[in-house]
Amino acid sequence: MGAIYIHIPFCKQACHYCDFHFSTSLKKKDELVNSLVKELVLRKDEFKNQTVETIYFGGGTPSLLTIDELRFLIDTVYKNYQVADNPEITLEANPDDLIQSQMSPRALPMAIGTRGLTSNSIYENYLKIGINRLSIGIQSFFEADLKLMNRAHNAEEAKACLQEATNHFDNISVDLIYGIPGLTNENWIKNINTVLSYNIPHISSYALTVEPKTALETFIKKGIIKNVDDELAQEQFHILIEKLEASGFVHYELSNFGKPGYFSKNNSAYWQGKPYLGIGPSAHSFNGNERGWNVRNNSKYIKALEENILPIETETLSITDKYNEYVMTGLRTIWGVSLEKVEQDFGLHYKKYLLEQSQKHINEHLLYLDDDKLLVTKKGKFLSDGIASDLFMLN
Ligand SMILES: C[S@@+](CC[C@H](N)C(=O)[O-])C[C@H]1O[C@@H](n2cnc3c(N)ncnc32)[C@H](O)[C@@H]1O
Ligand code: SF4
Repeated sequence: MGAIYIHIPFCKQACHYCDFHFSTSLKKKDELVNSLVKELVLRKDEFKNQTVETIYFGGGTPSLLTIDELRFLIDTVYKNYQVADNPEITLEANPDDLIQSQMSPRALPMAIGTRGLTSNSIYENYLKIGINRLSIGIQSFFEADLKLMNRAHNAEEAKACLQEATNHFDNISVDLIYGIPGLTNENWIKNINTVLSYNIPHISSYALTVEPKTALETFIKKGIIKNVDDELAQEQFHILIEKLEASGFVHYELSNFGKPGYFSKNNSAYWQGKPYLGIGPSAHSFNGNERGWNVRNNSKYIKALEENILPIETETLSITDKYNEYVMTGLRTIWGVSLEKVEQDFGLHYKKYLLEQSQKHINEHLLYLDDDKLLVTKKGKFLSDGIASDLFMLN
C-alpha cells in the first residue's frame, strides 16, 4: 500500500499560529503546479512496487487550485503510478474558498476551467475529478476565535459550507482547534455540538500550539494576546474525547476521531509505517528505510525541477531511529506498541528496554499493557509524546 501526499504551498492570508510552509503570493502558482507534475513523473520508479491507495492534497490551501490544476495532478498520478481501484483522494479545503465558489457565479468559470465541467457546484466538480474526501479547516464557529487566529473565513461561512458540503460529500473531515486563548469550555462544547449537528464522520482536532516566529508568539510576548492555558487545553481535550466517543466516534489517533469505516487512509499509512511519497516544497517522504524532505522554498523548488534535479535531502534511518519512531507513532494510536513486533523487528534487547522504561509510567497509570500491546491510558493521552520520549533509545 502506498500513499501520495501533494503539498500546495499557497494561502490567501497567514493564520497567526501557523508555521507550515506556504506563500501568500500566488504569482508562481502556474509554475509550481508544473513542477509538482514534473516531480511526480521523475519519482515514479520509487513507487514501482506500490499500489497507490490514497492521494492527499495538503497545504497550505489546496482549495486555491482550480479544478483543471487538480485534475492535471490527479491525471499525472494515474498515468505514472499503479493506482488502486477506489483510491481515497482527499482535498484540504478552506471554508472561504468553498463558499465563494458557491456564492459568486462569476468566480466559477475561472475556477472550473473548460474541459466539459458544467456543474454549478464546486463539490460536484471535485467529485467528477475523483476527489472523494474533503478535509475542511473550520477551527471554530466563534467570530472572536477566528479573528484572533486570523482565519480568512467567518462563523457564518463555516456553517454555510458544512451545510452545503454535506449535501454532496459523505466522507468529510472537519478540523477544530481547542485551547485558543479566550475559548471557554462552554463555547468549546458548542463548537463540538455544531460539528456533530452536521453528521460529519471524521474530526481532526489540535491543541493550539505557539510555534516559534509566528505572529501568535509575538502577540503573546507583547501581551496583546493571553498565553495558552495548558490546563484548560487539557480539559478541552478530555471534553472532546468524551463527547465524540459518546457520539460513536473512535479515538483512533491522538488528534483524530472517526466513525467506523471513516478513518483517514492517508494518515493511517503514516502511523502504520507504510511508504509514502511527499511531492512539493517541504513535503516529507518515507520508503521504509529512508526519510526524505523537499526544500521548503517555492522558488528553489521550481528552479531545481526546471533543471531536472530533485530538491530532496534524505537520511537513512538506523534501527534505533525506526524503533523510536514506532514507539512514538504507536503510542499515539489505538493500535499501540506491539511487544512482539518490537522483538521481531528490532530484537529482544529493545523489547526488554521498552518494558523497563515503561514500568514507571505503568505504575503511574499513564500506560497499560493489553496482552501484547502497550497503550496510553485515558490519563496518559494528552501526555503521549512526552511519555514516548522516555521510552526512546539513544542512538
Ligand atoms: C496546516 S493546515 C492545512 C489545511 C488548511 N489550510 C487549513 O487551514 O485548514 C492543517 C491543520 O493544521 C492546523 N494547525 C496548523 N498550525 C497549528 C498550530 N500551531 N496549532 C494547532 N493547529 C495548527 C490548522 O489549523 C489546520 O487545521
Ligand atoms: S492554517 Fe491553513 S490556511 Fe492558515 S496559514 Fe496554515 S496552511 Fe494556511
